[in-house]
Amino acid sequence: MIKANNIVKIYNQHKQNELKVLNGIDLDIAEGELCTIIGKSGSGKSTLLKCLSGLEGVTSGQISINDRDIQSFTSKETNEFRRQDIAFVFQEYNLIDDLTLHENIYLENEPTETIENLIDVWDIRKAINLFPMQCSGGQQQKAAILRALAKESKIIFCDEPTGALDGKSSQEVLTVLQAIQKSHRSTIILITHNEQITKISDRVITIHDGNKISDRKNVNVELAELLEW
Ligand SMILES: Nc1ncnc2c1ncn2[C@@H]1O[C@H](COP(=O)(O)OP(=O)(O)O)[C@@H](O)[C@H]1O
Ligand SMILES: [Mg+2]
Repeated sequence: MIKANNIVKIYNQHKQNELKVLNGIDLDIAEGELCTIIGKSGSGKSTLLKCLSGLEGVTSGQISINDRDIQSFTSKETNEFRRQDIAFVFQEYNLIDDLTLHENIYLENEPTETIENLIDVWDIRKAINLFPMQCSGGQQQKAAILRALAKESKIIFCDEPTGALDGKSSQEVLTVLQAIQKSHRSTIILITHNEQITKISDRVITIHDGNKISDRKNVNVELAELLEW
């Protein structure tokens, strides 16, 4: 469903500060799969996720999602694709500073019972009318995840979605992501540098210095709610 063929990403090409970050990566992620991407800081994980989701262009190579070449999209198709087909949780949250958490969560979508319930379960109700700057990193991260979930997209890209969360909160968030994968047959691509989190995924891809160094099926997928932290 998400296929990448020999993707290369060079930042600042032909400039003095040129940097090759992806070195020819092939991927094939099936519909309904929860795939984790693991690797050291600076190895190119965030860049890979942005390229796969079409948020960044690639320097060369092809990416197709549902057999559609995302690089051939017109700007109208790109906008529709970003609005309807995918959701993206940014590593640095990307919340809008002068909107409250509640307004950020429902930026593009109407409130739903499911999301309102998660606001309570994830314990951010007390911060819901505050601005991002007034909130902890964990509260902001949860709001960023809820904004993505509110879109009910079939494909969810998550860049270190539990990076600012403690063990208990991480487990709560991952439990919800895994439940959505099962109930909606959503495809979830999740970056982490925590080996523990790879245990809940169907596929584990390891990136090192812009290369894919391993890509394995996980035959023994664990439930997020049963993980030991
Ligand atoms: N927009 C950008 N312009 C130039 N260099 C970038 C940009 N984004 C990331 N990089 C560089 O690309 C490399 C990989 O970054 P990144 O994809 O964020 O890695 P990771 O998510 O694995 O930590 C780093 O050296 C980073 O500084
Ligand atoms: Mg990153």
